[in-house]
Amino acid sequence: MSVEQTAPPQGPAHVAIIMDGNGRWAQMRGRPRLFGHHAGARRVREMVEACPALGVKYLTIFAFSTENWKRTQTEVAGLMTLFRRYIVREARDLLARGVRVRFIGDRIRLDEKLVTLMDELELMTSGNDRVHLTIALNYGGRDEVTRAARRLAYEIEMGRLTHRDVDAETLARFLDTHVLPDPDLVIRTSGEARISNFLLWQSAYAEYEFVDTLWPDFTAAEFGRIVRAYAARDRRFGTVRA
Ligand code: IPE
Ligand code: IPE
Ligand code: MG
Repeated sequence: MSVEQTAPPQGPAHVAIIMDGNGRWAQMRGRPRLFGHHAGARRVREMVEACPALGVKYLTIFAFSTENWKRTQTEVAGLMTLFRRYIVREARDLLARGVRVRFIGDRIRLDEKLVTLMDELELMTSGNDRVHLTIALNYGGRDEVTRAARRLAYEIEMGRLTHRDVDAETLARFLDTHVLPDPDLVIRTSGEARISNFLLWQSAYAEYEFVDTLWPDFTAAEFGRIVRAYAARDRRFGTVRA
């Protein structure tokens, strides 16, 4: 590619966040883990609001993984209550602020009341286009790819597809994220440098940023610094810079 054709450095259109560190944040204050989860949930609005000015059209946040069921019943039940309350409390504001909300993950294990609220929020905000907020709830990358493969196999069994149709593009159409672009930047808070089963397929070429800040202490200012620093990165996608 010639110099003239090279696009100027751009910000990330899609940022995904692994919101980690709620438990430690609470423990440091001698409070139960759920206290940290409530504090963490309150940070989300600020990040969503920061998106338009930063040029971030898609924000995807990891709220509950397929592995998080291994936590105590008290913590899991508390989180499920928190998700229900979050939707009820934030719905009107999200709608008014032009946020389109989607959920990814397997809904089968979630309680019916929560799933109804999720469906309603998706439908209610489906006309919005200012920011696309995707909430990963009972989400696991391996689980998502497995479910996609199962549905693909079913289509073949039904005779609607053949094995020759199975390529990366077709498989991606069966993923929960089929309407979303791949994330450009994945941020994880709390100092852990791992993916924990988040957007495995979609993040094949994402840039990663691991920060020590615990999620309830994460601010729009820090978010903005990370997003702006992304422009200086050299994404090669396997090619060589001219
Ligand atoms: C992230 O915070 C939120 C969820 C996984 C639901 P954690 O609860 O994992 O907090 P730490 O990692 O124990 O501090
Ligand atoms: C990842 O965090 C899941 C969410 C942020 C929802 P975890 O705290 O569950 O991940 P591990 O267990 O430290 O890998
Ligand atoms: Mg954690």
